[in-house]
Amino acid sequence: MTRELRVLDDEAALARAAAEVFRDAARAAVTARGTFAVALAGGRTPRAAYALLADAAAPYRAAIPWERVQVWFGDERAVPGGDPRSNVRMAREALLARVPIPEANVHAVEGALPPEEAARRYDAALRALASGGAAPRLDLVLLGLGADGHTASLFPGSAALAERERLAVAVEAPAEPPHRITVTLPVLAAAAEIAFLVAGEGKRAALARALAPERDPDPVPAARVRPRDGTVRWLVDRAAAGGALPAR
Ligand code: 6PG
Repeated sequence: MTRELRVLDDEAALARAAAEVFRDAARAAVTARGTFAVALAGGRTPRAAYALLADAAAPYRAAIPWERVQVWFGDERAVPGGDPRSNVRMAREALLARVPIPEANVHAVEGALPPEEAARRYDAALRALASGGAAPRLDLVLLGLGADGHTASLFPGSAALAERERLAVAVEAPAEPPHRITVTLPVLAAAAEIAFLVAGEGKRAALARALAPERDPDPVPAARVRPRDGTVRWLVDRAAAGGALPAR
């Protein structure tokens, strides 16, 4: 695993950096294999990057072969697709409805189903993507970071952190809404590239822990995201980095 840390001046710079990572990963994957499999993050932070990717006036949209992009999700809340708390809805509004990506390329978690059934179906869809191995090698996974160090819907102390067989599970999160479906660490360990998008002073403590797991008796979930043969990029704004991290 190789790791890169970039401290951006503000959230707008963070969004640009994330859009560049997405564009470059998409172009490299399509050039190499004719397709680009990406898992999107939920929450608030990535929304600006998604909007930038969809913006025809920005240098990203036209450079991305959208018909070759396969979209997955790191997690989804167990709510109907039209619910404002849905990560899939946020991604559709900010990005997917605004770019020429075929609907068949969007592999949404079925949040309206009972969570265990939604997780079973998502696990099966991810397995179908894998060519031989247990977990598919996603070209890029975008992730956020919670103030408690969670990522996707892998929360501290969750049994889902120990899951090594299933690729997606239903969890009960200590956050609203509580019922969620999340990919598990085997999916993240198989990824070619992971990009964490972290903004705001509220994430400072969690980020410090996530960046220094060797000194932590109980590493936060985000620190356990370790691609076997991949790159982890930390794209953080100055507010989250504080003074402890060098700007890059
Ligand atoms: C979710 C996300 C979650 C999110 C973090 C950070 O469903 O909420 O998967 O892991 O990325 O909680 O969220 P913000 O970007 O809103 O701070």
